[in-house]
Amino acid sequence: MLQLIPMGAKRKEAEALAIPVCEDQAIHINKAVAAAAEQAKKLSEFKGKKGDFVVLYDLKDLKAKRTLFCGVGKMEDLEPETFRAMAGRAVKEGIKMGISELLLAVPDPKDVVVNRLPLLEAMAEGACLANHLFDSYKKEKKLKILKKIRFMVNPNGTKEQRGLLRRVETVCRGTLLARDWVSMPPNDKRPEQFSKLIAAEARKASLKVSVLDETRLKQRKMEALLAVAAGSRSKPRLVVLEYGSRYAKKTVAFVGKGVTFDSGGINLKPSGSLEDMKSDMSGAAAVAAAMIAIAGLKPKIRVIGAIPIVENMPSGSATRPGDIVKSFEGKTIEIGNTDAEGRLILVDAMSYIIKRYKPRALIDLATLTGACIIALGEKIAGVFSPDDGLAGAIVASGIKTHERCWRLPLPEDYKSLLKSEFADIKNISETRWGGAITAALFMAEFVRDTRWAHIDIAGPAYIKKENEYCSAGGTGFGVRLLCDLLEEL
Ligand code: BES
Ligand code: ZN
Ligand code: ZN
Repeated sequence: MLQLIPMGAKRKEAEALAIPVCEDQAIHINKAVAAAAEQAKKLSEFKGKKGDFVVLYDLKDLKAKRTLFCGVGKMEDLEPETFRAMAGRAVKEGIKMGISELLLAVPDPKDVVVNRLPLLEAMAEGACLANHLFDSYKKEKKLKILKKIRFMVNPNGTKEQRGLLRRVETVCRGTLLARDWVSMPPNDKRPEQFSKLIAAEARKASLKVSVLDETRLKQRKMEALLAVAAGSRSKPRLVVLEYGSRYAKKTVAFVGKGVTFDSGGINLKPSGSLEDMKSDMSGAAAVAAAMIAIAGLKPKIRVIGAIPIVENMPSGSATRPGDIVKSFEGKTIEIGNTDAEGRLILVDAMSYIIKRYKPRALIDLATLTGACIIALGEKIAGVFSPDDGLAGAIVASGIKTHERCWRLPLPEDYKSLLKSEFADIKNISETRWGGAITAALFMAEFVRDTRWAHIDIAGPAYIKKENEYCSAGGTGFGVRLLCDLLEEL
């Protein structure tokens, strides 16, 4: 779907050409493109400011029916995210126009020397991610995604550039798959169904798939995980995806929280908080989709993806506050609150993966706490790790991919907040303050000396209002992050 074409190539007229326009400098080498950008800037409503947008028709030196000018602001402020947003905007406008192909003019990197930006990569990501609609639940499909997006590069596309586009497409397809799963209504992705959806996609990607059902989970004594599922008529699953050979130099593992609907259980959530709880499986979606993307990227390591899937519901068979369960690791847990369920399914999945695969690094992704959204807002994920190197690598990948992460502490003296009178540990803190931290500290008690990081994605996993390259609903946050991170683990 993504293609390169050389600048100035003889071609038939394009339906639309999008040109990024810088406010204070010329960034295009191609004369016709540069001249068109200058012409557009003569309009009073278009100055090339970030977010400026105008369409002109049948410009004489350009072989395009429509030319979309997208302002990117001043040269010194340019960053990759500007170009993701610009390309995403152009694709979304193209979809609204009802066209099927879009051409994007990529500025010559030599012209954007000040910031040395990976422009083609950023534009390809923005374009690919914006070219998506979640309309399978609509009777009338009013819009259609673009069939082809082409990037005009100067002078000729290189082999590296073609490889780059393929990589971007593989990874972004993963993001789109995760978005679809997150946006899917909870009546269609109950644990038995969701585990089948994941298994089917994973098999297509040639991953090794194993699914532990309720009987197996009981045999393996994963009581913490089972306790969360107890109130639902849909039975729990633990899906394990494997990529690469057991003889590979290193094994890394990802674990994703898969609560297909979080009602809170007996500690039922109030109305306003129930609305978007179909998204409580965003960690699972990101891990599964990242594994599928990784199968396409073919790195020379072994990667394990573990996905515990449950539905958290109140009923006569539901777990009660006050219940005590024994985790897979052996510690007993007093359930102080049935709405703090994510940490329960995660610790059993993580202990199982640690015991079975002994990974060199383990990272979990989870929509774990409202407290993390209070701390960092809706666009930034919280990172917790006792390992400075691992936390640093995650933050760095977050900057590169713009899936932003900020490290929060794991203070030793907060551990006492999780004390239980009756069991080894309690699943909630005695205070509501610092809830994202105490949730992470709870999990830290189960991983012991494994190199581990926890990423709380409760904020960025889901958006109510569309942005430049994502519609309202699941964002697929984490897929690009994990794919990028893989090289650093
Ligand atoms: N799934 C929620 C966290 C969440 C909240 C995700 C808002 C996305 C948006 C989680 O299971 C939960 O309910 N956490 C509780 C923990 C508390 C009971 C200790 C919370 O954050 O209030
Ligand atoms: Zn909950
Ligand atoms: Zn939850």
